[in-house]
Amino acid sequence: MSELKRQVTKAIFPVAGLGTRFLPATKSVPKEIMTLVDRPLIQYAIDEARAAGITEFIFVTSRGKNALEDYFDHAPQLEDSLEKSGKHELLESLKSTNMESGAIAYIRQHKPMGLGHAVWCARRLIGDEPFAVILPDDVISAEKPCLQQMVEAYQETGGSMVATMQVPKEKASSYGILDVESEIGSLVSVRGMVEKPKVADAPSNLAVIGRYILTPDVLETLNRQKSGAGGEIQLTDAIAEEMDAKRKVYALKFEGQRFDCGSKAGFLQATVSFALAREELQDEFAAYLRDISPLIRAA
Ligand code: UTP
Repeated sequence: MSELKRQVTKAIFPVAGLGTRFLPATKSVPKEIMTLVDRPLIQYAIDEARAAGITEFIFVTSRGKNALEDYFDHAPQLEDSLEKSGKHELLESLKSTNMESGAIAYIRQHKPMGLGHAVWCARRLIGDEPFAVILPDDVISAEKPCLQQMVEAYQETGGSMVATMQVPKEKASSYGILDVESEIGSLVSVRGMVEKPKVADAPSNLAVIGRYILTPDVLETLNRQKSGAGGEIQLTDAIAEEMDAKRKVYALKFEGQRFDCGSKAGFLQATVSFALAREELQDEFAAYLRDISPLIRAA
């Protein structure tokens, strides 16, 4: 594959899921608009994608996600008002969320038929080039953003690449799990992948988490619309077929901490961690946590 072909400029953000674990909030608020401190989950995902060189952002949405589309509209009145009242820092933070006109596309997934299906819905906008997939409810705090780490590794390897991290064996049935061929440093050469295996059948403790760089071959496989675990069309299954076709798949053990913001516990952990990392909040918030720590021990 030529160097040019290895440039990844498009990313798919599948956000068409029902978000049932956050009901009743998700009756009217898309999960991706829920905020860690003061930025919605989707903003963290966009910032990570931009840092990795992504210039085209494709959202796979569904009914009830209008707030997500509105979030990316510019807000000239608000900008004017902040300008007039001299609130320059807020103005800069608002402007940093502005997206270039034409950089975002929205595609509907008409039925939540699984992550693989959601990615397939964007096939016409991807065409014949490698692309990234970012699940905004996996938030990763890292010095070098996770997708950037992957893009750099991918420029060396080609093939398809997933982000991976170790999980306790008993949690294997919540993830796609890697069957490892070999490992060199943080790069894993993958032999197979199983979506949500029984604990006893898990081939390793390395789980796939929500960052991918995929070749267009994966979209071809998804064309067959084969359903897998839970009756859904699984992205993991389509990537596993890459290996069956003798195409290389790698996994990167990224540097950083991943928060599962699709679950309540993960979302709360991320909130605490991101709040403690914010200069303007950390003293007051850390003091509060220290105050309540006896309560935590008693709970
Ligand atoms: P989840 O498995 O977290 O599902 O999807 P969910 O619907 O968002 O949340 P719960 O489990 O009901 O609480 C992982 C990612 O895949 C997207 C979701 O939007 C989320 O970003 N997804 C999932 C789709 O876009 N379409 C689907 O059919 C399924």
